[in-house]
Amino acid sequence: MEEKDRQNSEKKLAAEKAVEFVEDGMTVGIGTGSTVFFAIKKLGERVQSGLKFSAVSTSESTSKLAVSSGIRLITLEEAVRIDLNIDGADEADRNFNGIKGGGGALLFEKIVALSSAKNIWIIDSSKNVEQLGKFPLPVEVIPFGYKRVLNIFKEMKFYPELRVKNDKKFLTDSGNYILDLHLEKIDNAENLDKEIKMITGVVETGLFINIADVIITGKNNSTQILTKE
Ligand code: 5RP
Repeated sequence: MEEKDRQNSEKKLAAEKAVEFVEDGMTVGIGTGSTVFFAIKKLGERVQSGLKFSAVSTSESTSKLAVSSGIRLITLEEAVRIDLNIDGADEADRNFNGIKGGGGALLFEKIVALSSAKNIWIIDSSKNVEQLGKFPLPVEVIPFGYKRVLNIFKEMKFYPELRVKNDKKFLTDSGNYILDLHLEKIDNAENLDKEIKMITGVVETGLFINIADVIITGKNNSTQILTKE
């Protein structure tokens, strides 16, 4: 099997396993990305079979897909509580910390995650890492004065790169830019997160520390479920 096919099959396995946690009457947060795609498809199938739940979306792309799959969306404001949030990740370590934002939805994803009683990450096995940082760390910044922030990151030797898509500056759903930091390894994620967030103009970082409760990894033809104690 090609590497890409294997990853996709692992993503699907992890996503479908996470959907088994959804019960009647729940409010479910739905993340963003190619792994979450499989969760949305499965949730749509379960709606067809009679499952009743409401969902809070983390991005425009997820909202579109959810609505076309028959999932009832409510706003975060309308949600009294979010019972369960299902999201992907770009890297996850053994301490349940991770990097997110490869798809650029990190801000809404973090807000929904922090509003949820339980967070499940769904990943393929390539995303389990010993140390965070190989995946470039996304940082959302407001467009006004972003070059100043970029220069500060350069001085800090964080090797920032303004995210570009289709030859245009990538815009988040909030109309912000993303600076991807090429750190290679992160020794203290919590300190780094605080350090970056001190910089004026930074909106949020893709470091998700102590947020995930369960990590479901697709590995070959099965899933591994890790639950935080
Ligand atoms: C989007 C995210 C995604 O969850 C993360 O990038 C993983 O994406 P994929 O499932 O496509 O590999 O954080 O902002």
